[in-house]
Amino acid sequence: MQGTKIVSNLIMLIALALFNQVFAETLVKARSPEKAYVKGNAEKGQQIASQVCAGCHNADGNSTIPANPVLAGQHAEYITKQLMNFKARDNKPAERKSAVMAAMVVPLSLDDMKNLGAYYTLQSPKPGAAKDKTLAEQGERIYRGGNIFSGVPACSGCHSPNGVGIPPHYPRLAGQHAEYTATQLRAFRTEKRANDLNRVMRAIVARMSEKEIQAVAEFISGLR
Ligand code: HEC
Ligand code: HEC
Repeated sequence: MQGTKIVSNLIMLIALALFNQVFAETLVKARSPEKAYVKGNAEKGQQIASQVCAGCHNADGNSTIPANPVLAGQHAEYITKQLMNFKARDNKPAERKSAVMAAMVVPLSLDDMKNLGAYYTLQSPKPGAAKDKTLAEQGERIYRGGNIFSGVPACSGCHSPNGVGIPPHYPRLAGQHAEYTATQLRAFRTEKRANDLNRVMRAIVARMSEKEIQAVAEFISGLR
């Protein structure tokens, strides 16, 4: 039994590695017709950010409220994609559900979303610090090595060893509030969040325990 499980986990890990390459190509194709992720104007983005978003994400995107994500230093393309995903379009429901952010994106055009991405990506993220050292150490093992027994791949493979991510598709995680990260991982697990192309994050988190989610989120909050 144990042997079969390890083999199936290995298959999952190999599949993810292969998928990683195919994924990049699919996205390049998917985004070219709309040119949705072309660079924006950071000054125009700053105007909206200071008038509309600063109350929750801070003027420079370094949110101090644990439920609100830090946006400073996040990749522009990822920010634009999330803003698009929060918006219901073409009579289809929003791909990423959030009552708060759904209201925020209603007045935003695609250009506004690109401009906001351009603004936040230029802001410097403030380094975070993990509060619980023991928990963060457990999290570091998952982040760097995954869990071979349950088939969880290392996060560092896609989000990079220092958590800065790999633009344009793999978001920056380093220094993010642990509460926000854990909420997102749980949302992927329950499929409340389902905007990850080819289910990549949902497939991973389905194999993680609640304890592993808390540990890896704690580690990420202090990663720099
Ligand atoms: C009332 C508070 C509030 C305001 C104002 C607000 N946000 Fe948010 N934002 C949130 C919360 C809460 C989330 C997390 C949503 C979730 O749980 O998925 C979020 C998530 C996001 C995300 C996803 C980040 C990620 O790492 O995936 C982006 C991008 C974002 N907001 C941009 C903006 C922009 C741009 C504005 C202004 C136009 C704005 N927000 C205004 C509360 C707010
Ligand atoms: C095969 C590549 C891959 C691996 C491995 C991976 N991720 Fe991801 N992750 C992604 C992609 C792609 C997204 C962006 C999904 C989207 O477009 O919304 C993402 C998004 C996320 C987000 C949401 C970020 C935000 O700001 O809302 C979190 C949190 C996250 N990953 C954590 C992890 C953790 C923890 C691990 C390890 C247990 C991990 N990821 C492993 C590809 C990966």
